[in-house]
Amino acid sequence: MNRRNFLTGTVATVAALAAPPARPLPFRTEVSLKKLAAEKSLKVSTAYNGGGHFDLEALILHHCDIVTPENALKPGFLAPKRTINFAFERMDGTASFCRANGLRLHGHTLYWHQTQPAWLNDAGNSSFVRDYMSYAGQVMPRYGDLIDSWDVINEPFSDRKAGYRKNPVLDVHGDEFVRFLFRTARRAAPKAKLLINDYSLSCGAAYCQRKRDTALATVERLLKAGMSIDGVGLQAHLAPTQPVHKTPLSSFICGLNDLGLEVFITELDVNDIELPENIAKRDKLIAAIYKDYLGAVLEHDNVKRLGFWGLSDAEHWIVHGYAPFKRKRGTPRPALFDDRYRPKPAFFAVAEALNQAPART
Ligand code: XIL
Repeated sequence: MNRRNFLTGTVATVAALAAPPARPLPFRTEVSLKKLAAEKSLKVSTAYNGGGHFDLEALILHHCDIVTPENALKPGFLAPKRTINFAFERMDGTASFCRANGLRLHGHTLYWHQTQPAWLNDAGNSSFVRDYMSYAGQVMPRYGDLIDSWDVINEPFSDRKAGYRKNPVLDVHGDEFVRFLFRTARRAAPKAKLLINDYSLSCGAAYCQRKRDTALATVERLLKAGMSIDGVGLQAHLAPTQPVHKTPLSSFICGLNDLGLEVFITELDVNDIELPENIAKRDKLIAAIYKDYLGAVLEHDNVKRLGFWGLSDAEHWIVHGYAPFKRKRGTPRPALFDDRYRPKPAFFAVAEALNQAPART
């Protein structure tokens, strides 16, 4: 054995030892979403609440490149009270899972009005700026080796009026607060793509249009003022009661492209509220909603990621957790896989949408 063969052999052995054992899929599907997506230069992500769910993790490994911690990186979860010991355990567990398996992380989120602890939610407080910088400095670099992107601010725009939502910091400090957050994030996570993330950006109703207009005008203004922002996250919590309207959604994505911004689908799922109880019928309609949405969005080159808010009905916020609205009869079926991790028509619809998406740069 010459030196070269010896070295290659050693490297291969070390790699084999380091590689985690392949996990059996709970239900065999050869199709891998991340492989289909790679052919169209897209990454696939999912929300995962951590906690070592073996079957779900097998699905994530087979289909995803990136994990979004569902709750573990929210300020209210990490630091409900001012303390020097943040609750890192759950997030550290998810980070270990990612590290061991070559997955990346999407940070969610540096600010979200819904889980904001009081000590990080009062811009009138003299220590607010210092506290926020210290929070970001403790949280963001801890996962810096894994982080691909961050939702710097989540859901800043109002549903009721043009502009920011009414809350203790945005209402008072608006752009100034957003620029501060982005500066802080850039310092604490210099390699991450930094995003504004919001919902109700896909439907045809007037309030969705107002939100798209607000989002576009706001990022344009912030860019002009010198803020460094990489993209916009479209949450895409879809529902038949708020049908997607392709034309205005497309022109919004084009508008973001004109500003040099990337677009990330961050939280795709389908709330089956008001769909029939019959499961076969319902699954077909849910699949069509996924397919139509992706048909509208994936044709845009600046859309870089397809992110789901959970892969399976077994662990899904619409089925098991807090969700703003829920069907009255029958268990919801919002995800691509059912509660036994079997692929549903929605999964095959997404695979088909990826196959049909035009080649992208
Ligand atoms: C949700 C989680 O899925 C739930 O477990 C939690 O109880 C509440 O938050 N938009 C977001 C996510 O940006 O953070 C929300 O996640 C779902 C809506």
